[in-house]
Amino acid sequence: MFILDSSSPVPLYTQLYHQIREQILSGKLPAESRLPSVRNMASELSASRNTVDGAYQELYAEGYIYSRPRSGYFVSALDQEVAPQATSGKPGRNDYLPGPPSCFAYDFHPARLHPESFPAELWRKCFIDGLRRNSQQLVQYGDPQGDWGLRCSIQGYLERSRGVTCDPDQIIVCTGLQQSLEIVAQLLKGSHSVVAVENPGYHLPRSVFQNHGYTIFPVPVGQGGMDLNQLKDGNSTIAYVTPSHQLPLGYVMPVAHRLALIEWAESGGRFIIEDDYDSELRYHGKPIPSLQGLRPSGNIIYSGTFSKILSPALRLSYMVLPYSLLATYRQLYRAYFPSVSLLEQRAMANFMEQGHWERHIRRMRMIYKKTHDILLRAVDTHFGTRAVVVGQGAGLHVVLMLPDTRQSEAEIIDRARQRGIWLYPFSDFHMTGQPEAATLLLGFGGMKSCEIEQGIAILSQLC
Ligand SMILES: Cc1ncc(COP(=O)(O)O)c(C=O)c1O
Repeated sequence: MFILDSSSPVPLYTQLYHQIREQILSGKLPAESRLPSVRNMASELSASRNTVDGAYQELYAEGYIYSRPRSGYFVSALDQEVAPQATSGKPGRNDYLPGPPSCFAYDFHPARLHPESFPAELWRKCFIDGLRRNSQQLVQYGDPQGDWGLRCSIQGYLERSRGVTCDPDQIIVCTGLQQSLEIVAQLLKGSHSVVAVENPGYHLPRSVFQNHGYTIFPVPVGQGGMDLNQLKDGNSTIAYVTPSHQLPLGYVMPVAHRLALIEWAESGGRFIIEDDYDSELRYHGKPIPSLQGLRPSGNIIYSGTFSKILSPALRLSYMVLPYSLLATYRQLYRAYFPSVSLLEQRAMANFMEQGHWERHIRRMRMIYKKTHDILLRAVDTHFGTRAVVVGQGAGLHVVLMLPDTRQSEAEIIDRARQRGIWLYPFSDFHMTGQPEAATLLLGFGGMKSCEIEQGIAILSQLC
């Protein structure tokens, strides 16, 4: 039944583990079937008992098998829908990597970009230009805050397009919001312990600050963004907000609210983290200028990313620290090394300096406006008055509220899966409470026009 290859560099117990796992996943070894005893299996394979025991222990630790006292090991019942796909023979790359849910014909994930949008040829040229320039810098560690050229390009772009006022000196090139928040959490740890987050809101700030020992204070979101009265009622001294396109509801924080939030921060030595993640993508009117630009000298930490326009796979983002935190940052991180590859930073700097970035933004805005409009038309056609759309006109997703639907979110997601539709659970955005009506989050960035039309048609029959 199992064949072990003693000439292979893969240890025998690992080979056996993979073969049994494969049979469990493919259903050849059905749930509740009993595995041969360690002694019998060892003699059948002419292997040592340690080999068999090692394989069984791995399978047991990962939950593929369980033990019954004095009866031996049995195959666990796995939910085959969610179980990883079996792969043949030796361990392949995908045994270790969580692959995308590629089996879905209609993937409404909110963080996917247009499948053919990455400007590979331009990126290649910018990368090669970066490689040819000053190769002496490639044999040493770079500036932990990021390549100076890239920081200058980011500064110019932020000033022109986002109304952010800062010096390149204040910019830190990061590998994504997660790293920015890790730094902020570390910087503020001594004197702050409670962070206000939007509820519903992005899960990442909750996790990062929680992992650093902070208390998370969820603040409800209304049409004007985070509810400032409730914020003031709490004892948080840091507020994480997405004021130009609230995630997930898409609301824009009006300027009066922004000023009141700044006042809240200034009056008590508090901090605002402004996550300006996708504000390049507004489909009507001009992009909303940043909150940071209203008070450049205030305690506002501004975060932006290249993930929404260019590629989430590059892992390239930036953060602007207020001067009040810069000295502490330099003190705490003086022994650190840069975390983003210099070549990637140079490629990005070239991409920006040569005007490709701003052209690419305009191009992507046109593409996403088209898919956004197709989505809204499809919702109108197939749901009609059954659905209320929230947060349209910007970003890469809209929210659909279904006041008359009696099904739970889990039921809708499950029925959608069976019809090839992948939905991101809206409930993941809630730290406390739930929306009053069944609510769907529909990301459209990674979908083709025809997929949107068909996916919405199917979805409308399920809700
Ligand atoms: C609100 C918000 N901020 C930031 C990000 C991610 O940015 P990055 O890829 O730079 O970590 C996302 C990603 O989906 C997001 O939804």
